[in-house]
Amino acid sequence: MAPPVYLDNAATSYPKPEAVYQAVYDYMRLVGASAGRGSYQRALEADEVVYRARVALARLFNVRDAARIVFTANATESLNLAIKGMLGPGNHVVTTSMEHNAVWRCLKVLESERGVAVTAVPSAADGSLDPGLLEEAIRPSTRLIIVNHASNVTGTIMPVREIGEIAYRYDIPLLVDAAQTAGVLAIDVEEEHIDLLAFTGHKGLLGPTGTGGLYILEGINPRPLKEGGTGSESRLERQPDTLPERYEAGTLNVAGLAGLEAGVKFILQEGVERIRAREEELTAYALEVLLGIEGVTIYGPRDPARQVGVISFNLEDTGPEEVGYVLDEMCGIMVRVGLHCAPLAHRTIGTLERGTVRVGLGYFNTREDIDCLAEALRDIITEARGC
Ligand SMILES: Cc1ncc(COP(=O)(O)O)c(C=O)c1O
Repeated sequence: MAPPVYLDNAATSYPKPEAVYQAVYDYMRLVGASAGRGSYQRALEADEVVYRARVALARLFNVRDAARIVFTANATESLNLAIKGMLGPGNHVVTTSMEHNAVWRCLKVLESERGVAVTAVPSAADGSLDPGLLEEAIRPSTRLIIVNHASNVTGTIMPVREIGEIAYRYDIPLLVDAAQTAGVLAIDVEEEHIDLLAFTGHKGLLGPTGTGGLYILEGINPRPLKEGGTGSESRLERQPDTLPERYEAGTLNVAGLAGLEAGVKFILQEGVERIRAREEELTAYALEVLLGIEGVTIYGPRDPARQVGVISFNLEDTGPEEVGYVLDEMCGIMVRVGLHCAPLAHRTIGTLERGTVRVGLGYFNTREDIDCLAEALRDIITEARGC
């Protein structure tokens, strides 16, 4: 059998740059101490690891004060922190019909438990969003706008810049879910008027699982999601007000952050523009090849300039689960199938009942990987047609 082909980078990126593996190993083997807790040499080295990760991310997102980036376990925790920390009884929130459950389930809890009113502005069937509709949904009680930067189902890139301008004009904080875009699309929190940026470390940022963070604009003060030890101001009976400690109770994932720093450093060295160009080129090729196979239905924009390297599709009468199973078992091709934790997005594009097969392209994929997929899909279709 041909070597395995990993096409599930939208779930988590693989492989990582060599420097990421090395950084995790080096920290665990040579440093090993906790961060923010000690004053001996190796504890200070652990502090340095965390600090460097923060500074690298601040550079990537154009954040002036790196302390405004707080570390979490993943984008889900960052979104929970921002959403639950910002919204209270009587508040209204505007979001879109393309959100991941990491946003949607939070909002559903707040709707039933805190009486928060939720408007999900409908996207078009290709996942695209008209910012004018979002503006129309704003009410005097709107306290937060939440937008998925790029859909993990269709790859559709949302008009974050335009939405940022609207949010800025109305003086409403904008929370961007950058799970699918951090490290893949250029993000400038100042230029794009992003007040809260939730990101995960293990996808486009090329770091280990269990890493993520939230950028919080100065003047925005969500309630912490958790309280506990910060290694500082221990006499205080409440969480300190200073950042990042206010939001970082408990021992940090220093091993993960060592790897994350190496991932972000790799991105800064390569350049986000180059990474984007590579992924756009691969996406263009994949779309061209898949569109050329009779029996494949592709969802989303089908335009590499309007999407990240995420492509959802279905094959005639063969269910996505079966396609995924055959691709893995017979061909060693790894894709994701089902609803991708985003039923709202599936309802929008008309695949709620069936789900889709999802290809998640990454920086290290090749055209040959896509050719392997195409050949396997042709075989599945031929087999299913019984010819
Ligand atoms: C758009 C989007 N938001 C949020 C998440 C949650 O990311 P994590 O599982 O790393 O918390 C994902 C992950 O698939 C995603 O694609």
